[in-house]
Amino acid sequence: MEEKITEQKKRMLSGIQPSGDLHLGNYLGAIKNWADRALEYECYYFMADMHTITVRQDPAELRHRSIQQLAQYIACGLDPEKNTLFLQSHVPAHAQLSWVLNCYTMYGELSRMTQFKDKSAQHKDNINAGLFTYPVLMAADILLYQPDYVPVGEDQKQHVELTRDIAQRFNSIYGDVFKIPEPMIPKTGARVYGLTSPGDKMSKSQPDGCVFIMDEPDVVAKKFKRAVTDSDTEHCVRFAPKEKPGVANLMSIYSVVTGKSYDEIEAEFEGKGYGVFKPAVAEAVIDALNPIREEAKRLIADKAYLESVYEQGAQRASYIANKTLRKVYKKVGFYQI
Ligand code: TRP
Repeated sequence: MEEKITEQKKRMLSGIQPSGDLHLGNYLGAIKNWADRALEYECYYFMADMHTITVRQDPAELRHRSIQQLAQYIACGLDPEKNTLFLQSHVPAHAQLSWVLNCYTMYGELSRMTQFKDKSAQHKDNINAGLFTYPVLMAADILLYQPDYVPVGEDQKQHVELTRDIAQRFNSIYGDVFKIPEPMIPKTGARVYGLTSPGDKMSKSQPDGCVFIMDEPDVVAKKFKRAVTDSDTEHCVRFAPKEKPGVANLMSIYSVVTGKSYDEIEAEFEGKGYGVFKPAVAEAVIDALNPIREEAKRLIADKAYLESVYEQGAQRASYIANKTLRKVYKKVGFYQI
């Protein structure tokens, strides 16, 4: 893919909650493809630390995770020279616009958000106002940057639709202030399932079947050794997701990291059992993760570099965000300094 000239590029923005270490599902399913996006789009990514505190967090851990995750994303190929990477709390305009938009969002709209209903059921002892107005902060995150596209998972689509409604409402009163963004459900890379529960997506809530990108090779090898294959007696490497979901998952992982097709993989392991196949998958994954883990470790140790990344990111982001905020403040009637 050839790089487009900046002027023609459409803008894209997404937030990521710093909620824990990245795993193979995050990497192969999404992040691996993000490096190429910068060729076609002007990309903004931020760690949504302000959203994270709608659920109680350990402060030291949140602080650590935000930076750790920034380093991990860079190690996965998100180049800070080609993408704007920053922390949400470093750009005050998010909180500022969020307040204004609160006054253009209806109680009824927020009550209908499925994530709010789910989360307030999960955290009955802490149904705070932030949990309720979470989508308004998200609308501010987005609208500040006037993006064309917002790549989000299916679960966040409703929030982007609400963002559009809020923007349209605001525009219909004050004229064209906000660009109306489109949600973009990204082409997923591989769908990676848990190694011990191939019916579920790989998730850190099932750590035994979850390969983290920071796992050392011996840990990765052990996790693959314990991977569920199948209970039939066939014991052959054949791509049949319905009958043999565990084997299909391993084949799909092997396919993405090696670039081999399913036919090629079947041929490669013909007549060989899982005792040969599983270590081969483990080895391919270890080879793919080695440079990422080492780079992430190097970055985490380089505090000065990371500081320069998030400072520069916040500066670039603030420039655009403040332009939108000034316009909004003027429109709603705040006396200009
Ligand atoms: N709510 C999103 C999530 O949990 C994270 C997020 C916050 C976001 N602000 C955003 C995503 C703005 C896209 C755009 O995944």
